[in-house]
Amino acid sequence: MPHIVAGPTEARIRKQDEGMSKRVVVLGIQWGDEGKGKIVDLLTERCEAVVRFQGGHNAGHTLVIKGEKTVLHLVPSGILRHGVHCLIGNGVVVAPDALLQELETLERAGINARERLTVSPACPVILPSHVALDQARERARGSKAIGTTGRGIGPAYEDKAARRGIRFGELADPAKCIARVGHLLDYHNFLLKERFGESPVDLNRVAKEIERWSSELAPLTGDVSRAVYTVTQNSGNVLFEGAQGTLLDIDQGTYPYVTSSNTTAGAAACGSGVGPLILDVVIGVVKAYTTRVGAGPFPTELGDETGRFLADRGHEFGATTGRPRRCGWFDAVLARRACNLNSVNSLCVTKLDVLDGLSEIAICTGYQLGGELMDHPPWDAIVLEEVEPVYEKVPGWQESTAAVRTLEGLPTAARRYLDRLGELLGVAVDIISTGPDREDTMVLRDPFSLASTDSP
Ligand code: GDP
Ligand code: IMO
Ligand code: MG
Repeated sequence: MPHIVAGPTEARIRKQDEGMSKRVVVLGIQWGDEGKGKIVDLLTERCEAVVRFQGGHNAGHTLVIKGEKTVLHLVPSGILRHGVHCLIGNGVVVAPDALLQELETLERAGINARERLTVSPACPVILPSHVALDQARERARGSKAIGTTGRGIGPAYEDKAARRGIRFGELADPAKCIARVGHLLDYHNFLLKERFGESPVDLNRVAKEIERWSSELAPLTGDVSRAVYTVTQNSGNVLFEGAQGTLLDIDQGTYPYVTSSNTTAGAAACGSGVGPLILDVVIGVVKAYTTRVGAGPFPTELGDETGRFLADRGHEFGATTGRPRRCGWFDAVLARRACNLNSVNSLCVTKLDVLDGLSEIAICTGYQLGGELMDHPPWDAIVLEEVEPVYEKVPGWQESTAAVRTLEGLPTAARRYLDRLGELLGVAVDIISTGPDREDTMVLRDPFSLASTDSP
């Protein structure tokens, strides 16, 4: 075999592996709202930068610090830690009006987010006509509606793929940008009027907004790929913050009841402008039960008293739209697939406290379909609608686990439940969350000291 000399990239990665910079991905392995924001915020204590790499302001990430709640949609969940650089990577679709509103809300709370925020010039821009199209399409789907957040996410990604979209970097030259938006609006308005019978979007109104976006937001544009590279070169830790969840991934999720981006770990690299080999650890965040907002299959959904118990105790209302979330038992079949899709090598279980007081807890370990037992999910969402979950019943606990911060402080049955989840997914439970507050968390194994080879 020829002797291959390590190239600069390989050498750099090896150098960083020698106990310095760590790059950790945090993402959801269900249908979203697993508590990703809380975990990212917690872990940023040891980070120099946090990168959002996909999705847009369809996300709602809730951070609670000493009882004070902040909900973030576009700004990465590192913003509440002084000195942390927050980056919005090229994979994110950016609604300038929503970004401005979020920055203003943060400023009113005394956080000068602009000082620490960089947005990739390659981010597709969400225009008011994307929002109109998203909502018009949903209305036209009638009973088959996806239940989108209505924020223009799908149409903005469509325009990106069709190579006709406007990118964030174009805001720097408002005159040129307005001319390009004019062409795009011709097309969007044609669809709105002729296809959906809806009102068109007025170019003059959008042009005025572009002037404002240009003066207020264009200065935030910067080279996100280079920023991440620089942090890693200087031995700093970087977090990659997922939005939505694995089961909402455009390719691997419950299509068509999904979002319009790749939400899985591979997107952390291409949505930030870094190579996949720099990712060391992938933390899969999972609720101790399952929830879903919007339409689509949900095998373990509970339409009964227990479902209402989980919704009430877990305050299961969407952080973005306020819609009630559907609730059900933990689905280990889907969660295991999600771990594989993401190379999850560290598990974080949230909302354990919500299960307090149940005498018995069920875990779905397989599906029945037409007399056949399955231990893996079907690829087709229509078939997933038809499966019957097979449950393993485990004892619950009566003690409160709310705000418990040590493993020893948990009831034995709760520890057994966590062990069983880890066993079924084949990944160690490294972080446990027992309440919404940053402090209500146990970190059993520090993700910044795990290496990429620490696989399950
Ligand atoms: P994300 O989208 O994954 O960041 O999650 P969301 O913020 O949309 O939803 C999670 C909700 O659960 C928020 O209201 C959090 O404050 C709350 N939460 C997070 N972890 C816990 C926990 O361990 N226990 C309880 N009771 N609430 C939690
Ligand atoms: P976070 O980051 C839960 C769901 C919507 C809908 C589908 C498509 O807070 O976990 P879209 O507007 O993206 O085209 O809607 O995806 N959805 C989410 N569900 N949490 C989210 O984000 C979501 N973002 C989108 O409800 O079913
Ligand atoms: Mg959320």
